[in-house]
Amino acid sequence: MPCISAKELLFWKNKQLSKGGDHQSFAVLLDCIGGISTINLNLLGLNPDGKIYLKKNLDYLESIWEDHLLNSTPIQYLCGKTFWRDLKLKVTDKVLIPRPETELIIDIVFKIFGKKSQKLLFAELGTGSGAISIALALAYPLWEGIATDIDKNALEVATKNYLDSSKHSNLKFYCGHWWIPLESFKGKLDLVISNPPYIPKNTYEKLPKEVKNFEPKIALLGGEDGLEHIKEIIQKAPLFLKDKGWLILENHFDQGQKVKQLLIKNKFTLVEIVNDFSGIGRFTIGRYK
Ligand SMILES: C[S@@+](CC[C@H](N)C(=O)[O-])C[C@H]1O[C@@H](n2cnc3c(N)ncnc32)[C@H](O)[C@@H]1O
Repeated sequence: MPCISAKELLFWKNKQLSKGGDHQSFAVLLDCIGGISTINLNLLGLNPDGKIYLKKNLDYLESIWEDHLLNSTPIQYLCGKTFWRDLKLKVTDKVLIPRPETELIIDIVFKIFGKKSQKLLFAELGTGSGAISIALALAYPLWEGIATDIDKNALEVATKNYLDSSKHSNLKFYCGHWWIPLESFKGKLDLVISNPPYIPKNTYEKLPKEVKNFEPKIALLGGEDGLEHIKEIIQKAPLFLKDKGWLILENHFDQGQKVKQLLIKNKFTLVEIVNDFSGIGRFTIGRYK
């Protein structure tokens, strides 16, 4: 294990950041590859003469940082890990890197169901890395969850993340197109969540290269107007939800009103657009009758 002084590490860190990139990405590199958490790093600032052990040497860390800067490869893919809420999740280029704004879905669930809820059945459509379902399965050990995805490689990542983060067995993983894997749960679901691909075709073509060149197209593209998948999910939701079951959807920044109308047209009540931290109507929720 390479050992260096705190002063040396902090000097090296500033040098790397002067080449470009942001502090958050650098923190992912230092934690996931170097083995130094942000808390440890902050403590080092208080004791610059202290020694620190790294999991990998600085040359190795620097080569990853330079790859990130040169090729715009997301640091999470280079490190194979990301942070989401209080989870540290494996990510590969087969899954979308779960976004900070999506973390709010868990808070919406807490608001609807409270923190200590009785047994219920939830499903997540398009689980990717498993972030949402795993956070819910951990927060509610009495709940049973089904996380689905069309991509079996994504489900492998999600399953590994679940096994690495939970001692329980309250989450199952099914492969298939939206509702198809849930045929045997018709009329039985209390809650369905989805952050489906919702980027309109034109916008997709213009996405920054760190997204378009690396993250799976299948996780992003929502057809011509971005609403193709959202429409399918909403139209079939009444078949699968229990009476008074909830549907929580993430949508693109300007789709809230359209998604709201789709929910109302399909007999949802208590339909509401929920803002993210930037005041954008990022989520649309409703209760089936
Ligand atoms: C925007 S990503 C969301 C991933 C994860 N839930 C999150 O919030 O980070 C959408 C996910 O839907 C999956 N997906 C795309 N088309 C699908 C389909 N037809 N049926 C089921 N899942 C699909 C993708 O593979 C991807 O994992």
